Amino acid sequence: MTAIPEQRILLIIGGGIAAYKTLDLIRRLRERGFFVRAVMTESAQRFVTKLAVESLTGSRVFDDLFALTEDSSMGHIELSRDADLLVVAPATADIIAKMAHGLANDLASTMLLATDKKILVAPAMNLRMWLHPATQRNAAILQNDGVVFAGPENGGMACGEYGPGRMSEPLAILAAIEQVLASGTRIPLPADFSGNQEAADVLAGRRVLVTSGPTREPIDPVRYIANRSSGKQGHAIAAAAAAASADVVLVSGPVALADPLGIRTIHVETARDMVRQVEAALPVDIFVGVAAVADWRVAETAPEKIKKDPKQEACLTLVENPDILAALGRRSKDRPALVVGFAAESEELVENAQAKLTAKNCDMIVANDVSRASGVLGGENNKVLILTKNGKESWPWMTKQEVARRLVARLAAMLAETGR
Ligand code: CTP
Repeated sequence: MTAIPEQRILLIIGGGIAAYKTLDLIRRLRERGFFVRAVMTESAQRFVTKLAVESLTGSRVFDDLFALTEDSSMGHIELSRDADLLVVAPATADIIAKMAHGLANDLASTMLLATDKKILVAPAMNLRMWLHPATQRNAAILQNDGVVFAGPENGGMACGEYGPGRMSEPLAILAAIEQVLASGTRIPLPADFSGNQEAADVLAGRRVLVTSGPTREPIDPVRYIANRSSGKQGHAIAAAAAAASADVVLVSGPVALADPLGIRTIHVETARDMVRQVEAALPVDIFVGVAAVADWRVAETAPEKIKKDPKQEACLTLVENPDILAALGRRSKDRPALVVGFAAESEELVENAQAKLTAKNCDMIVANDVSRASGVLGGENNKVLILTKNGKESWPWMTKQEVARRLVARLAAMLAETGR
C-alpha cells in the first residue's frame, strides 16, 4: 500500500533516547511516499544529529524559533499550515505538558500551538514519568482535545526498568498515522460524533464487544501459525461503535495498529486466550466477531525449539480451536441481542456466508472476498456483502472506516428493532 502522493508530515522530534527509532520512522514514511519535514527540540539534538535527520528527510531541519522569524521563506505558521498531520515522536513528558497547557517557548511547542491540523503523539518516557498523575492528567487533556496517541507500549526501557512508557515501534506509529489520515476527520471520540445521531441515540451506554486481528498459535518457543489479517476492519468497527457512544471492549490479536482511543483494548495471542477474554467481557448487547481466529492450533506446543532431522519428515498434529462466534450465537444464557460474524471467503462467497449465518446462529454475516487479488487483507478498502435472516445486500467498495460507520448504523437500527 502506498500513501496518497504529497501527504505531508511535520515531524516534531523530542529529546529522548527513543529518538533513534524516529530515524527509522522517517525512513518508513519516505518509503510510503510521504513528504517529511522535521522540527527538533534542543534536547533531541543531544540524541540524534540534525545531519542524520536532514539526510533521511531530504530537507532542512528547523530548530530555532527566532531564526524562522528572520527567514521569511518559511515562517512557523507556514510550516504547520503546509502539513497534513503533525507527529510528535518521541513525545516527552515535557512536550506533552506544554501541549496540554498551551505553552509555546520553543519552535516545537510553538508549532503545536499554532496549528489547526491533526496531531499524533508517540509518547516515550520512564514508566514513573508516564504513570505520574501529572502526565496522566495532561494526556487526558490532550485526548479530550482530539490529539491521537500511538502508544506508549509496555516494555524494557533504556534505564533498565520495565513497564509502560516505551515508544511504539515505527511500524505501529506508521499504521496509526495512516489510520488517522485515512479517517479524514479528527479521531472519532463520542464528543466529536456528529455523523449519525440516530445510531448514537440507540447505542449510548450499550455494550459492544469486537474481536479483531489474527490469532497466533505457537508451534515452539520461536515459531507460530498465523494469518494475514491486519485488524484494520475490526479496529475501525470498534472505533465507529465508540464514536456512536457505545461502551466498547476490543479483544485484539497481535496487530501493528495503535489501540483505538477511548476503547478498552485487551491484547491476546491465541484463540484460547481470545475465548477467555470474550467470555470475561459478557454480557454485551452486540458482539461483532471480526478476528481471523486461527482454525487450528498445534496439539502440543514443543517446549524447546524443534530441530531439523534429515531422517524424519517434519509433521505437525493440529487440533481445532474453539469457534468463538458459534459459541456466542448458540448461547442460551447471556446471548448478545445481536451476534455478528464475518465470513472471509476466497470462493463461493454467498453460499459459504449463508451457511455460516445458519450454522453459527448469527443475526448478520458480513462476507468479504479475501482472495489475494481482492487486496482486502491488509488493505485500506473493503467490499462487503451483508447477509441477515431477511435477505442480502451488496455494498460498494469503500474504506474500512466507512464500512465500519455504516455497519454500526445498521446494527443500531437492528438493535432498536429487537426492542431489547
Ligand atoms: N470465528 C471464530 N472462532 C473461530 C473461527 C472463526 O469466532 N475459531 C469467527 C470469525 O471471527 C468470523 C467467522 O467466525 O466472524 C467466520 O470466520 P471464517 O474464518 O470466515 O470461517 P470459519 O468459521 O473459520 O470457516 P472456514 O475457515 O472453514 O471458512
